[in-house]
Amino acid sequence: MDEIARYNLERWRALTKADALFTRPYLNLDADSARARIDPENRLGEIAGRDVLLLAGGGGQQSAAFALLGTHVTVVDLCEEQLERDRQVAARYRVEIETRQGDLRDLSSLRADAFDIVWQPYSINFVPDARAVFAQVARVLRREGIYYFNCANPFVNGLTEKDWNGEGYLLKQPYRDGAAITSADSAWVHNSSDPIPRPREYRHTLGTLVNGLIEQGFEIRHLSDSTDFSPDPNAAPGTWEHFTAIAPPWLSFWAIYHP
Ligand SMILES: C[S@@+](CC[C@H](N)C(=O)[O-])C[C@H]1O[C@@H](n2cnc3c(N)ncnc32)[C@H](O)[C@@H]1O
Repeated sequence: MDEIARYNLERWRALTKADALFTRPYLNLDADSARARIDPENRLGEIAGRDVLLLAGGGGQQSAAFALLGTHVTVVDLCEEQLERDRQVAARYRVEIETRQGDLRDLSSLRADAFDIVWQPYSINFVPDARAVFAQVARVLRREGIYYFNCANPFVNGLTEKDWNGEGYLLKQPYRDGAAITSADSAWVHNSSDPIPRPREYRHTLGTLVNGLIEQGFEIRHLSDSTDFSPDPNAAPGTWEHFTAIAPPWLSFWAIYHP
């Protein structure tokens, strides 16, 4: 494990302990709400029986949803405490979920051509080289398989609602691929009153994301820049709702592996 992984693992352990948003398992799903959680626009179609890799997807959210939809789920995550949540939802719903501790930059313990879907919730920004991740995904995904990932919008990466300066949200950090990004956590992330140092994040420019996918044989089928966190341009400046209406924080890519 390198220094980046060691540092971020400690952060995720602390976030899990503090019951942070992305560490709370979904314990009350049924088939309809499971589909709404992972695929509200029905881009996946019928997936029962498919092999799904949840990449850096521990925490017992998407694993529960995919398992309830009848898929064979494998979760890879750096953090055992997050994977424990996936084992918890497997017991809760009486489904099989395979959990593997590992780094998303090294999937060599997985067979090549083993998955129909690779689903990667927000995590690629925890490593400096997005292209290295795309190469790993291309190896384990079957031809015509689906790759979904969510990431930081590179143009506003590092900004938060706290950056309101009376006129706008001031961009200060260089637009450079692989640059380490520092920013404060939003107040809604965890319930702990003690500050928890954030995981280390890295910017991936739009050129790297798009060209990196193309170079590995992916076809981009859809790109979403909308947020499901209720953006509101009329909200008070400096609030999360106003900030996300001005600076959409995330992108989601849907791609097909078609080398
Ligand atoms: C924001 S959470 C995403 C998962 C969550 N299920 C969700 O609903 O969004 C990010 C996850 O990435 C994992 N992670 C961070 N760096 C990683 C790495 N290098 N390799 C594998 N997993 C990593 C963390 O342990 C954490 O579980």
